[in-house]
Amino acid sequence: MVNQLFRKKSFDSNTARSELARVLGVRDILLFGIAAIIGAGSFSSLGEAIFKGGPGVILLYVICGFACTFTALCYAEFASRIPEAGSAYTYAYASFGELIAWIIGWAIIMEYSFGNIYVSFSWSDYFTSFLSRLNIHIPYFLTSSYVEAKNAFLSGSENTKLVNAWNTAPTVMGIKCILDIPALMINILITWICYIGIKESKNFNNWLVLLKVMVIILIIIIGVFYIKPENWTPISPETQRPTFFPNGFSGVMSAISGVFFAYIGFDALSVLSEETKNPQKTLPKGMILTLVLCTVIYIMLTLVLTGVVSYKKFEGVGDPLAFIFDTSNANIAWMEILVSFIAIVAITTVLLVFQMGQPRIWYSMSKDGLMPKKFQTIHPKYKTPSFSTLMTGALVGVPILFTSKSFILDFTSIGTIFAFVLVCAGVLVLPKKEKKKGEFALPYINSKFLFPSLFLLGVIGFYLLEKNFFYTLLYWDDSKEGEFRMSIFFYLLINLFLCTLAFVKNLSFIPLMGLSSCLYLLTGMSHENWKWFGLWFAIGLVIYFLYGYRHSKLRPEAK
Ligand code: ALA
Repeated sequence: MVNQLFRKKSFDSNTARSELARVLGVRDILLFGIAAIIGAGSFSSLGEAIFKGGPGVILLYVICGFACTFTALCYAEFASRIPEAGSAYTYAYASFGELIAWIIGWAIIMEYSFGNIYVSFSWSDYFTSFLSRLNIHIPYFLTSSYVEAKNAFLSGSENTKLVNAWNTAPTVMGIKCILDIPALMINILITWICYIGIKESKNFNNWLVLLKVMVIILIIIIGVFYIKPENWTPISPETQRPTFFPNGFSGVMSAISGVFFAYIGFDALSVLSEETKNPQKTLPKGMILTLVLCTVIYIMLTLVLTGVVSYKKFEGVGDPLAFIFDTSNANIAWMEILVSFIAIVAITTVLLVFQMGQPRIWYSMSKDGLMPKKFQTIHPKYKTPSFSTLMTGALVGVPILFTSKSFILDFTSIGTIFAFVLVCAGVLVLPKKEKKKGEFALPYINSKFLFPSLFLLGVIGFYLLEKNFFYTLLYWDDSKEGEFRMSIFFYLLINLFLCTLAFVKNLSFIPLMGLSSCLYLLTGMSHENWKWFGLWFAIGLVIYFLYGYRHSKLRPEAK
């Protein structure tokens, strides 16, 4: 049975190397990357991240940038090994076998589909604020999430929009009618576009990307003139001293979901390997450039936002980039309108990338027998994976009715980081390959001494910065700090183990750093996040054993 769980799809059983033309250069990869990455994370979740971590959240953008760069290189390595374009699911199936592939496929649902729930909510935030700036007002109960409105009402929140939604909503059979109509509408529209398979026009896409980058640069340039430097060193509620980290380092780490979400999407680049000119050089160059550019953009945006407005004012703000220009802040009406409008466009490109990605993964899983046959249905006229596309639409649309943004953000981030951990760990155990011209090959750097030395330096550095933290490392309680200390304790233990492995097995440095840094990101997740993730994971395993395991094309009876 155990062998059967790790049955691998043979490399040769993939379709032969396709004849796609190699037309993409570094610039195309960069533009595609920005289309997939910059969206709700920078236009929306940045606000809540700033509220939690204060200006110091910049540090987290740097950490995430590093973690994602290492992971991106691992994706590139995977992509170069399998003779067919695909996702981490395809790569894992060929390299590590069915169970791991299934787990990755299951985690990707969290990235693509649940990610799009959050993106739809943010689209709605910008759409409604854009309309209200044009003096068109939709009642709050038709543009809010039920759960958020209820929680805001019960907790006596200062978020007037949500409390108002609860108070003004009509009641039918004892239930308040509160739903986010714009989020639902954009989901239906995107599902329809994916269903009929409108061909993406590269030029149109490139224009959208340029527009989005230009507006961000404009926000930074104009915002600079409104910065009040004292906003960067607010008074810490605990120590009553001015600091860059008003809620401490655990406050910064509690913003992990919002920050990491801004980076999600770069993995979509690896599927372009077959269409890239000289992928050995172009793909990693394009990926790293994309991530560096995004990191710089995020750092500058955070500096501007936290400089113009006090971090405390970002609580519950879903449209922070427009918010800094509203009447109570910098008060530049035309910027508010422009930013809201471009945000609507920017966020739509992300919705499209993800909503097209998910059905294609289900399609592959179904072809492998791990999902019902129906998921392979191709529309006779539009030639799109029609059933999978509709199912994706439903998976994104139905939860819009009964979830909240913050829950979805945490859920998406934890699942995606988990998939990245598996990808980096996977690359560590891949057998060595022959170098072939024109294919990407991850540079091998021996981590034998390097990784343990870096680990030691990191621990010493952290000790010097936060001596008290180490003395209290074993003091776990239900508080945020207690949870964070517990996670760090386990993180240190795992790293000691990785140091030993690096020393004994001469592991490759890049995937090892990817693994360690992604594991670090997981330390910011609360127990509540882990509980939900565990449940999702368990459901995935039950479905695999009840269905996938029995219907797999690789089961002995099927051969
Ligand atoms: N990184 C993508 C976004 O920010 C998911 O919308």
